[in-house]
Amino acid sequence: MSSTPRRPTPTLADATRGRVLFGGDYNPEQWPEETWHEDVRLMRDAGVNSVTLGVFSWARIEPRPGERRFGWLDSLMDLMHEGGIGVVLATPTASPPPWLGRLYPETLPRDEDGRTEWWGGRQHFSHSSAAYRRHAAAVTEDLAARYASHPALTMWHINNEYCTHDWGDEAAARFRTWLRGRYGDLDALNTAWGTAFWSQGYGDWEEVLPPRRTHYLKNPTQVLDFKRFTSDMLLECYAAERDIVRRHTPHLPVTTNFMPLWAGQDAWRWAEEEDVVSVDLYPDPRDPFAAQHAALVQDMTRSQARGPWMLMEQAAGAVNWRGVNHPKPQGLNRLWSFQAVARGADAVCYFQWRQSRQGAEKFHSGMVGHAGERGRTFQEVKRIGAELAAVGAEVAGRHSPADVAVLHDWHSWWAGAHEGRLSTRVDHADVLTAWHRALWQAGLATDFAHPEHDLSAYRMVVVPQLYALTDTAIDNLLAHVRGGGVLVSGFLTGVADQDDRVRAGGMDARLRELFGIRTLHEWWPLEAGETVRTDDFTGTLWSEEIEETEDASVEAAYRGGELDGRPAVLRNGRAWYLSTLPEPEALRRVLTGIAAEAGVRPVLDGLPGQVEAVRRGELLFVLNHGREPVTVEVPGTHHDLLTRATVTDRLTLERYGVAVLRP
Ligand code: GLA
Repeated sequence: MSSTPRRPTPTLADATRGRVLFGGDYNPEQWPEETWHEDVRLMRDAGVNSVTLGVFSWARIEPRPGERRFGWLDSLMDLMHEGGIGVVLATPTASPPPWLGRLYPETLPRDEDGRTEWWGGRQHFSHSSAAYRRHAAAVTEDLAARYASHPALTMWHINNEYCTHDWGDEAAARFRTWLRGRYGDLDALNTAWGTAFWSQGYGDWEEVLPPRRTHYLKNPTQVLDFKRFTSDMLLECYAAERDIVRRHTPHLPVTTNFMPLWAGQDAWRWAEEEDVVSVDLYPDPRDPFAAQHAALVQDMTRSQARGPWMLMEQAAGAVNWRGVNHPKPQGLNRLWSFQAVARGADAVCYFQWRQSRQGAEKFHSGMVGHAGERGRTFQEVKRIGAELAAVGAEVAGRHSPADVAVLHDWHSWWAGAHEGRLSTRVDHADVLTAWHRALWQAGLATDFAHPEHDLSAYRMVVVPQLYALTDTAIDNLLAHVRGGGVLVSGFLTGVADQDDRVRAGGMDARLRELFGIRTLHEWWPLEAGETVRTDDFTGTLWSEEIEETEDASVEAAYRGGELDGRPAVLRNGRAWYLSTLPEPEALRRVLTGIAAEAGVRPVLDGLPGQVEAVRRGELLFVLNHGREPVTVEVPGTHHDLLTRATVTDRLTLERYGVAVLRP
């Protein structure tokens, strides 16, 4: 991937300048000019210091092919600057104008059945279309040239939530080129894809297609490679626009916003191509596990960023894309904003500034809701803005430490999701969530890591499930344990290689030796509602008929049924293997015990379930996710940066309350 040489690399700190950014997507083209002036007044009132302009402005900027209308954007950039508000300027390429699809129908993506995705919504572009890429580059070039030296500009935001697919002809041609790059020749492709099965051998590159509709199960490696290809094509689109804006403003950071735990992008790979990692996060206010879901996404985003990150979008109230969409009760917006800051966010932003009155998202909340300035939502936004301004200098740029790493990899997720797997009940994201939740409930600070990353900083490495592992990743896990680290793995790990070829013996031999598994006889998936008993807990979802080596110790064995006496939890020195998914409380207990042995302590001892403690730098964030006030032990004397009170040993938090304690 080409990239313009530049030094020093800009970072989020170049945009934050010691503050926490606060603001959101601003789509002023929906409003008359008087409203823009009103917006600036309200933004200043709310402590907004950053807005993202232009995300969906292509048709406004280029209403007809080649025309340019920048006057309205010039006025807005100037207005923002006069108001002391920085602008994250977006390339408008996520939603092409209707003329592009009309004049260049090949820019419209096709689904696996060959059906066209038309304009009239958004994201109707084919990542593989040369015409799309050409027009996207042209508008990006002119935008970057026009605003490169504008004093309001602080950062670039490329496209929006890259997530499109294309099974069409132009994508097929690019898929072949991508495959030639990966395999060189057809023999290698036939070997990797295992085409000897079901008479799929390819004799000519023209026969190779994206995995379009088939009569029965598709070739798993073809599907896997198509997912890799799709992630790579979107990344090429991103990088092309990034390189254009970098050429004009080498001193400004560039980002694109991820969706949380989104299956369509290898976010580890993408993060390497960004100056700032940003994410959009919309937990459901009615979900009892919303805070943990948010914590998972925040931990993962911080790990991808390897430091501070940007919460690019959240909702001030309701979204409008769930079946039933609930507002946030008073205090929840503030609590979740501080939760993100506690976990390393140096920017707290929303979709969108002013709630729309027309268009598909008119029932999605805004920082200024339909109720306007007097609405409860805006009043809470104002409070958050003021508080972030007060604590910003003490948190921005600070590190959030963790001794535990949870391993996650998109390629393994993709491979393990094939329709021909043993249990469709096993979902990688669910398993990952269950393990992270157990660690979160145990109060253990966690990072995420890729299985090939350097793991030496972590005392304990946790593998909820890595179905497919490269040899390099396996060596890395072995080295972690050899180097004195603890490794805990869940079931269905190390089964396949990078081509989704099952390893001899059903699990990699070196991993079997590491965990003390002599033979993996059979996998025994469980039905919905079915459980297995062990002498310590109840297992769910999956079980395995494994036989241990002499050196290994069976920490928990199955009791009754076909697996009676077989290991459910197996230990071989510092390596642990769980052949089932313990019910939540048991998983928490097992992981807490292993962590304690590894010398990993909770952030704060003895917290009730609804209270979370997170360290960032020298600060301790205490967050009450409960709907009732709570009093907790916080040994020592602290200064609460929000109330400015001194806190000694005990802290009382209102419902959804937050404290930011400095020793
Ligand atoms: C995404 C998009 C926004 C908006 C919000 C609504 O995050 O990036 O443009 O559609 O969802 O929740």
